[in-house]
Amino acid sequence: MIMVKTNDEILKMKKAGEILAGLHKEIKNIIKPGITTMEIDKFVEEYLEERGAYPEQKGYHGYPYATCASINDEICHGFPRNEALQNGDIVSIDMVVRYDGWLADSAWSYGVGEISEGAKKLMEVTREALYLGIDKAVPGNRLGDIGHAIQEHVEKNGFSVVRDFVGHGIGKDMHEDPQVPHYGKPGRGARLVEGMVITIEPMVNSGEWNMKLDDNKWTARTVDGSLSAQYEHTIAITADGPVILTDQGEER
Ligand code: MF3
Ligand code: CO
Repeated sequence: MIMVKTNDEILKMKKAGEILAGLHKEIKNIIKPGITTMEIDKFVEEYLEERGAYPEQKGYHGYPYATCASINDEICHGFPRNEALQNGDIVSIDMVVRYDGWLADSAWSYGVGEISEGAKKLMEVTREALYLGIDKAVPGNRLGDIGHAIQEHVEKNGFSVVRDFVGHGIGKDMHEDPQVPHYGKPGRGARLVEGMVITIEPMVNSGEWNMKLDDNKWTARTVDGSLSAQYEHTIAITADGPVILTDQGEER
């Protein structure tokens, strides 16, 4: 069942989103060769605790950490680790923040030091695809309009859209209806209505889209070892258009 939120509830989710967006901007400043994703994870826990917020991923279906930190060929659900990030790595940090009972979800990819032109292009196209999808998140459109806009941009640039993980409704629970695929056909799927809050979170691979799962049963990585990037926002669908609840301001 798709749940529709009141304006007050959306404002509460925006509070969680503002904390999460602030955290991403901090992470952008501290990511450099030598730092470990475990240090970033600890930073996130402290940042949230200081603000009376909670890292919702920790303990979710037994997930052990505050963040997912997915490096290079890891698509998503990478475990934070004690190895230093290397010059040229790309790393996607995914977090869900609970504040005053409401959630926001946002992932962002970061380049470590100097990254290759290919990695830059992958990140750029993935971010552009996210915003093209967001543009379609208006009342009256359908889920397929979002997925199609994303898929078209990604494939036009020679990259592929991961099929195994999708966006989702979000509110007091991390995963609510509907599922939001990042591929699809225009005019298909559930209709978007005012008050829906969803995530759009394309994972894009430089090679083929298929994934394999690590022995930890969480971490998904590309079968062909190609790079993967991800950008995710939490979006409220309103009469005035899409409102990005996890907006980082100038960081588009
Ligand atoms: N933030 C992820 C999402 O977008 C969820 C990660 S799974 C978890 O759906 F177990 F780590 F929480
Ligand atoms: Co999500």
